[in-house]
Amino acid sequence: MSAENVAELTPEAIQRYIRPECPDDMVAHHGESIPVVDLGRFIDSQTSQQEAAVLKSACEDWGFFQVKNHGIPETVLENMRNNLEYFFRLPLDEKNKFAQLPRDLQGYGQAFVESEHQTLDWCDRLYLVTQPPHDRDMRPWPTTPVNFRGSIESYSSAVMRVTRSLVQMIAKNLGVDLDKIRDTYVSQALRMTYYPACPVAHDKVLGISPHSDISLLTLVWELNKVEGLQIKSQGAWVPIKPHSKALVVNVGDFLEILTNGKYQSIEHRVTVNPHKERMSISAFHLPKFDMSVGPLSEIVGGELKKYKTLRVDEIAKVVFSSKLDGKKTKEYAMFSI
Ligand code: OGA
Ligand code: NI
Repeated sequence: MSAENVAELTPEAIQRYIRPECPDDMVAHHGESIPVVDLGRFIDSQTSQQEAAVLKSACEDWGFFQVKNHGIPETVLENMRNNLEYFFRLPLDEKNKFAQLPRDLQGYGQAFVESEHQTLDWCDRLYLVTQPPHDRDMRPWPTTPVNFRGSIESYSSAVMRVTRSLVQMIAKNLGVDLDKIRDTYVSQALRMTYYPACPVAHDKVLGISPHSDISLLTLVWELNKVEGLQIKSQGAWVPIKPHSKALVVNVGDFLEILTNGKYQSIEHRVTVNPHKERMSISAFHLPKFDMSVGPLSEIVGGELKKYKTLRVDEIAKVVFSSKLDGKKTKEYAMFSI
């Protein structure tokens, strides 16, 4: 589907975004908040053990956590924020120069649109494969504003460094050799999303439908600090409070599969604000498409394997050929009991 400017839709066009079921079907409780992992505490051997325990319980009990003191330079964040805001405010024609082509997920537009009748997500997106550098297809990388490509590159590398540190600590917590999982996060894709305010029907649309992420780890930056992300916890949607300088990290489906379900990827969604626009960047880290992923024998031990070992491209084909829908990857990989 070609991209349209969600913010400028006519009342008839808005109908395609209205959900038959009410998005507020489950009352969110506001009291809880996800754990905060302080990366700065991993530098000091005295504090690093305590912080490793925080990370461990964040992965086991929540699947979602904030990361502060991640070390991404302020200028990298500032440039990325300014450039992305500039891009999303360009006229539609300008943005469409970098539109997704048929059968390509990269570029500007809405992914996962499989039919005319599907309810659409209330957002505009720019999706790019960013790592490893030799896998980049530069065609859909915007050239306006002029330094946007450079900002994306710097942001992507900085986030990759944070991911490497996190995976190192996660491997330690799991008692597995880093070599065993090194290949599972060599690729990175950025999904940059603009959620316009929706004054007429914010309670009847969603910015992103409920889903879990097809990734090892996802690092989300809520760059203009507007609330919207919610995670499913004990049958209710729990809103995540954006922190000014933190990243939101979540366990993805591949980490759930590798750990045989010890760490779970949690379903989440994005709601839309009636008055404020929201922007975010999700960085998905995943294995190369020709790799196979299954539960690690060191973790399974004597237990039953809950997931099959599957090639990543086989899983991706199932997930990317259809609309975003709950926990599709895991269900596909899971042995039926
Ligand atoms: C995603 C996602 C959350 C957000 O891109 O998969 O869940 O806050 N994004 O935009
Ligand atoms: Ni997600």
